Amino acid sequence: MGSTMDETRRSDHADVSTGNAANIRAWSTVSQEELDAFGDEGDFARQHLLTPALLDFLGPVAGRAVLDAGAGNGYLSRKLARMGAAVTALEPSDGPYEYITTREADEPLGITCIKQDLSTLRGFESRFDTVVANMVLLDIADYQPAIANCLAALKLDGRFIFSLEHPFTDVADRTALPIKLHDYFSERQLPRAHGYNFHRTLQTYVDAVADCGGLVVRIKEPRLARGIAQRHPERAWSGSVPAFILIKAMKPDSASVT
Ligand SMILES: C[S@@+](CC[C@H](N)C(=O)[O-])C[C@H]1O[C@@H](n2cnc3c(N)ncnc32)[C@H](O)[C@@H]1O
Repeated sequence: MGSTMDETRRSDHADVSTGNAANIRAWSTVSQEELDAFGDEGDFARQHLLTPALLDFLGPVAGRAVLDAGAGNGYLSRKLARMGAAVTALEPSDGPYEYITTREADEPLGITCIKQDLSTLRGFESRFDTVVANMVLLDIADYQPAIANCLAALKLDGRFIFSLEHPFTDVADRTALPIKLHDYFSERQLPRAHGYNFHRTLQTYVDAVADCGGLVVRIKEPRLARGIAQRHPERAWSGSVPAFILIKAMKPDSASVT
């Protein structure tokens, strides 16, 4: 998928919602070393939990138009492009965006890059077979327009796949079992290395998808394989309690879903 004039213009002027500005600023300062270290496979969680679950949900991607919404350093965009997908990588933050575009210039994979806040995305309606938001919605204050835009960007019958820290266990210290339960129902900000995450209930996300006409078809709670947990005792907890949840929704061919 090649860039259009409109997309190139967007690249220079990220239209950022007021609510989202602080986190986008925080992510803009992520260091070159961190982006490099993430490379083409991502961190431990992506390698052993998130990416296998995402690929399973995605199925065959060759020839499919995929939006990687909140692409970070673009590891997933590059992986899907190498598998034959026509990938658009959306990323609003300076450091990650520059990393994606530099990598694409150095080793072109046909990835279209757009510098854009997901909550203010316009002009991509009905363009994609699949929209993926890997660990992104929990970074977005204005999550409802972001979800609406993901669904709007899908063709009819397209799939919207997103992952979150599992809201049952998204507490600061998850390394010691048993994990202390926290106040699940109180939605709040949790400080993180880059800005903060928003703790929201599962109902909040599922309702937001439904409110935009999406239909949740499956969830996944990836579990660390026993062999990997034995080799990485510091992560063994994620063989017992869910670190992440992935939600797969579809844009039904009918608006009659309630
Ligand atoms: C935890 S990182 C995940 C990156 C990537 N999807 C991955 O799995 O490696 C969250 C990403 O969301 C991006 N982000 C933050 N606010 C956003 C927004 N309003 N719209 C789109 N992306 C946003 C950040 O810049 C960051 O790259």
